[in-house]
Amino acid sequence: MHKIITINNYPAGRMEYAIATDELQILDVYVQPEYRRQGLAENALRELLRENPPLNNAYLEVRASNQAALNLYLKLGFTKTGLRKDYYNNPIEDAVLLHKELTRAV
Ligand SMILES: CC(C)(COP(=O)(O)OP(=O)(O)OC[C@H]1O[C@@H](n2cnc3c(N)ncnc32)[C@H](O)[C@@H]1OP(=O)(O)O)[C@@H](O)C(=O)NCCC(=O)NCCS
Repeated sequence: MHKIITINNYPAGRMEYAIATDELQILDVYVQPEYRRQGLAENALRELLRENPPLNNAYLEVRASNQAALNLYLKLGFTKTGLRKDYYNNPIEDAVLLHKELTRAV
């Protein structure tokens, strides 16, 4: 599944995700460089995390060097639950596993 992230009705990025029963797997979030640092990804993710029917858990993995994404998810209340060694290619890099329980307000 995917959602387009918009600014003034103009497409500025996208989110890809999968939902299985009450679990959300965030696969990718992308905002075009010229629209970054305006809260677009944060707002779009907050909306997704409130999706109906209520989701109970959200998961994703990010490159260990992706500080922007790590900050974004930590700001949204995700916690680091593990590391997958050498998970990514080109370049080879560890994946940081992130999880958020969605019983609290986001
Ligand atoms: C990661 C990404 C989606 C963030 O999108 P964005 O719309 O610019 O993010 P927001 O403006 O909503 O930022 C929300 C928070 O994320 C963190 N953040 C975002 N960009 C950051 C950066 N360049 N450096 C450090 N922290 C950053 C901050 O905590 C920020 O809160 P703040 O502005 O109050 O400090 C965007 O940088 C992107 O598309 N990157 C390339 C693709 C990618 O790496 N996707 C993540 C894989 S899941």
